[in-house]
Amino acid sequence: MIAVAGASGSVGRWAVGELTRMGIGPVRLGGRRVDALRQIADETPEAQPFPFDLDDPESVARFCDGCTAVLNCAGPSYLILDTLARAAIAAGAAYVDVSGDEPVHRRLTSADCAGTVVLSAGMLPGLSSLIPRWMATEMDKVDSLSTYIGGLERCSPSSATDMILSMHTDDGDDYGHALAGWRNGRLAEKVLRPQKDVEVPFFPDRVSAHPFFSGESARLATAIGADTMDFWNVFVGDRLVTTFTRMRSRPVAGEEMDRAVAELTRAAELDLFGREPYYALVFRMTGVVGGRSVVRTAALRTGDAYRLIATVGALAVQAVVEGGVGRGVGYAADVLDPGQVVAEVRHSPAVTAFELVDHAETHEGMEDGTV
Ligand SMILES: NC(=O)c1ccc[n+]([C@@H]2O[C@H](COP(=O)([O-])OP(=O)(O)OC[C@H]3O[C@@H](n4cnc5c(N)ncnc54)[C@H](OP(=O)(O)O)[C@@H]3O)[C@@H](O)[C@H]2O)c1
Repeated sequence: MIAVAGASGSVGRWAVGELTRMGIGPVRLGGRRVDALRQIADETPEAQPFPFDLDDPESVARFCDGCTAVLNCAGPSYLILDTLARAAIAAGAAYVDVSGDEPVHRRLTSADCAGTVVLSAGMLPGLSSLIPRWMATEMDKVDSLSTYIGGLERCSPSSATDMILSMHTDDGDDYGHALAGWRNGRLAEKVLRPQKDVEVPFFPDRVSAHPFFSGESARLATAIGADTMDFWNVFVGDRLVTTFTRMRSRPVAGEEMDRAVAELTRAAELDLFGREPYYALVFRMTGVVGGRSVVRTAALRTGDAYRLIATVGALAVQAVVEGGVGRGVGYAADVLDPGQVVAEVRHSPAVTAFELVDHAETHEGMEDGTV
């Protein structure tokens, strides 16, 4: 039995479909609204609605009981923290989280938690490290990596809440650093600036690109041994990025949260108005293969970012149930096989295009309106 928490959410309903497509189950469908769960059960063979509330410890324990693995697609992740992970471990189940990230990792490792835990098994973070890790395995040495991720997508309530909460955490350990990059093998503050109205290869629109260096990026840079690394959040349209930037400069107080979430989701809707959603992940890596300098670009496009997140989460569950992940608390990028994940993802229904291109030229950065 695989328990999916948040099975009625934007990610969760796709995750249930992905697990079924991969032949993994039966699936227990978790969330508070029983009608929403019943609707998904009607479309999914052998799936059982299992209403529970993450704020009720007894119901959380019942939800995990008897399961091989618990996949957390509920949100907001910054409020759930390690609640579900601890219940899963207590029930003897492996725990996979499409989010969780550093706050859950820190809480579980500091308490020396036993069990199998896979965190950040989504798209960003998640695939954002797994694809370049796979690219790096085919190079003798990596010199640099530039990553561009973004597009046009609606913003779910949980995603909006997590975006806001990740900007200013209570313990001062923010999710990352705006304008920062990786230079000479270490974090460098204020080395980049936002770019407006630029072309980025593989994005069909002119976009704005905002440099942001997260904990995930720093782990990736260390793992692949890159000297130089930039990460750019790509926005199509002005509404979401303007709202987000304003919130970053002025922390949202607790009582303002509902209004701020509504503002972010509305801004994303307005950017998307009349358009088809798309999300692209573009990685430009330079390095050395067989003594030759190479520039390699991988680009992936999806019509539904939530479906892509769900695909990675389901693949992590598959790896866990097949015994491919040992005990301990790890990030998906560290514990999954990047080549296997990329091979599965690129042919999954979530992906509309995947390209790998080798170039001769090596110019860097965004200038004169192009990358
Ligand atoms: N790694 C990545 O690439 C990535 C990217 C974007 C988002 N995320 C994360 O993915 C997670 C899910 O996002 P989403 O967009 O699917 O969110 P969503 O559409 O808002 O759905 C949230 C789900 O959680 C359930 N839920 C909320 N509170 C609950 C509670 N107290 N007890 C039980 N279930 C509860 C909801 O059902 P009920 O309301 O019926 O309870 C719903 O099924 C979030 O943490 C988000 O930040 C990850």
